Amino acid sequence: MSHVIEQLRTRRTQYALGKNVTLSADETEALIKEAIRLSPSAFNSQSSRAVILFGAESEKVWSLIGAELRQIVPAEAFAPTEAKMKSFAAGAGTVLFYEDQDTVKGLQENFPLYAEAFPGFSQHSAGMAQLAVWTALAEKGIGASLQHYSPIADAALAKAFNIPASWKLQAQMPFGSNEAGFAAKDFIDDSKRFVTLGK
Ligand SMILES: Cc1cc2nc3c(=O)[nH]c(=O)nc-3n(C[C@H](O)[C@H](O)[C@H](O)COP(=O)(O)O)c2cc1C
Repeated sequence: MSHVIEQLRTRRTQYALGKNVTLSADETEALIKEAIRLSPSAFNSQSSRAVILFGAESEKVWSLIGAELRQIVPAEAFAPTEAKMKSFAAGAGTVLFYEDQDTVKGLQENFPLYAEAFPGFSQHSAGMAQLAVWTALAEKGIGASLQHYSPIADAALAKAFNIPASWKLQAQMPFGSNEAGFAAKDFIDDSKRFVTLGK
């Protein structure tokens, strides 16, 4: 099989994160940036933005999200939520994935024929960037998961990290060392998913 397929196979959801990453923060940052740079986007608009946080800055993400959740999750049910926040904070870092809405608006103005499609295209681009980063991290032995605490913590995160007003938060990706293995993954039957003709 191809290297790409092997790398896609390696990418899994890892919740048991630690700080024992051998790749340096500089190398990890460069890897994340390059994965996003090389990801495709509608009309090559390069709408994806990312905030790459290590150490205490990453821990801040999860304490801010936890504080927002504490306001809406009943106190007696908060323990599992708090444990989850701790597990994300236990990693080496977090990537916050944003999409720049000014870029989306610019596309809508320049290509009115596709105006309604561009917000969706932007989200597709975000997904591509997320997969690229997740897979690139996995290839280096770094575990990660994809989280969606949005819009609940958008304002708090924007304030804490001085995020431009036009950046819309899409997802959070806590990453770190793999502190547990992965359960086998079930796949639905190919006949339900694929149609191939004419070969
Ligand atoms: C669009 C999308 C949204 C997801 N949202 C979440 C999420 O909010 N929290 C979470 O823990 N996992 C989330 N996941 C991870 C999936 O649950 C996970 O990828 C799936 O169960 C397959 O497992 P694997 O990642 O180990 O292959 C999301 C994945 C995708 C593609």
